[in-house]
Amino acid sequence: MNLDLLLAGGLVADGTGAPSRRADVGVVGDRIVLLPPEPDGQGPDAAEVIDCAGLVVTPGFIDVHTHSDAATLLGEHAAALAAAPVLMGVTTEIAGNCGSSLFPALPERLDAMRESSRATFGGEVPIFRDYGGFAAAHRATPRPNHLTSLVGHGTLRAGVVGYADRPATPDELDTMCALLDEALAAGAAGLSTGLIYTPGTYGDTAEVVALAKVAARYGRPYVTHLRDEMSRVEEALEEAVEIARKSGAALQISHHKTAGKHAWGRTERTLPRIAELRASGLDVTCDVYPYTEGSTTLSAMLPPWANDGGTEALLARLRDGGERARMRAAIADGVPGWENTVGNGGWDRISIAGAPRHPELEGRTIAELGGDPLDTVADLLIAERGQVTIISHSMREDDVVRVLGSEFSMIGSDGVPKPGHPHPRLAGTFPRVLGRYAREQGLFPLEKAVHKMTGMAAERFGLTGRGVVRDGAHADLVVLNPVTVADGATYAEPLLPPVGLHAVIAAGQVVARDGVLTGALPGRIVSL
Ligand code: ZN
Ligand code: CU
Repeated sequence: MNLDLLLAGGLVADGTGAPSRRADVGVVGDRIVLLPPEPDGQGPDAAEVIDCAGLVVTPGFIDVHTHSDAATLLGEHAAALAAAPVLMGVTTEIAGNCGSSLFPALPERLDAMRESSRATFGGEVPIFRDYGGFAAAHRATPRPNHLTSLVGHGTLRAGVVGYADRPATPDELDTMCALLDEALAAGAAGLSTGLIYTPGTYGDTAEVVALAKVAARYGRPYVTHLRDEMSRVEEALEEAVEIARKSGAALQISHHKTAGKHAWGRTERTLPRIAELRASGLDVTCDVYPYTEGSTTLSAMLPPWANDGGTEALLARLRDGGERARMRAAIADGVPGWENTVGNGGWDRISIAGAPRHPELEGRTIAELGGDPLDTVADLLIAERGQVTIISHSMREDDVVRVLGSEFSMIGSDGVPKPGHPHPRLAGTFPRVLGRYAREQGLFPLEKAVHKMTGMAAERFGLTGRGVVRDGAHADLVVLNPVTVADGATYAEPLLPPVGLHAVIAAGQVVARDGVLTGALPGRIVSL
């Protein structure tokens, strides 16, 4: 047999969670050939051989939760951001999370969506009318790893209803369902919501049920950033359960966390609740990133009505002293149904991750910037036209560990590839789980960690033939050193590559070696 590539002499953790075993892994074209042991030492011929002695061969990692929708479309200045997931072993990225995707929208709405698209995706990138336009733009931009996308409810709503704080009319809801149906028929991976973000938060439970029913018809999951991950996280979880029950869609809780001092320790209740739901037959799983800090946009710290009407309307309100006073009061007193991150933590727990025109502020907390915090935030948002990313120091380590360790959690980075000092999860998530949590803390065996990054994710999102090392599977693979694998990225240097990742292989080609891209661009747009 003539192989294109031979991974010789390694231990294989095959993605199922089964104990590792010694095996040679061959690659022909873009497929895996699992080779029987050769007692006489006479291996098959291969164009390239990687000596894997002392190393572990795993399936390429599947990142179930990314915001990489546009990263490769933004050109050279975003190249390092687009490369970070590949360098940490991610061979398939699922984008379109938290309610934001690059499609679909009614043609007449596309212009009005440009500003918010820039704020969400970190650069000049169009919203596409449909999945076909999105896939075509990506196919025309060769990439190292594979990409698939959910349909974001926020994008769908902006693309039909606009940014208004009101219920969708029955006609509008029909149109949203039709656009979703078309996208799923064309291959999108499921439906996502971001129910803390505008305009998604303007949608009520019934609206999401109607949309999730469309996803259920295609057997695709309902993936949700809950309406509250802080003091009302349990109520928000029950809303998601109601949506799953009424629609029949499988439920994926995104980046499960219980954040803010009022919710610390609450995973002691949410995780048993999810386990109980699973035992009762509900198909529910979650994902998690291995950090106690979150990251989002600065404008999400403001009450939902502040964003009513979109970016221009927000900026106009921020220029108005009376409106600022209302926002200040809303944060102090709360608004029913609104998560209120700052009210649950404080401005000293919010630091600037990205402010394109004010890079000198990156890394500092809002409290450290001085002055009245709301005025400081308003002035900054005006100066940056709404484009400010933040890191919130909002979680407790025991909660993160509990979610990581639960049998129904998989790994999703929630990486946000925006300039400045993005959250290090973009470049560190997977090696951090393998190094810090599997090897150093012994939270689970390496094979189990790998399963959470591969086989479990592939099963949840219907990525047939991926996430597993077996004969005939897609040749997406990682070769790692189990003794050294660790994340390199920090808050100060968020794009430092991990260590211990010897090779990353996508579609049979080596796309990264020892923390450096090789230049191979075999990545595909995976349509379901
Ligand atoms: Zn989210
Ligand atoms: Cu997200």
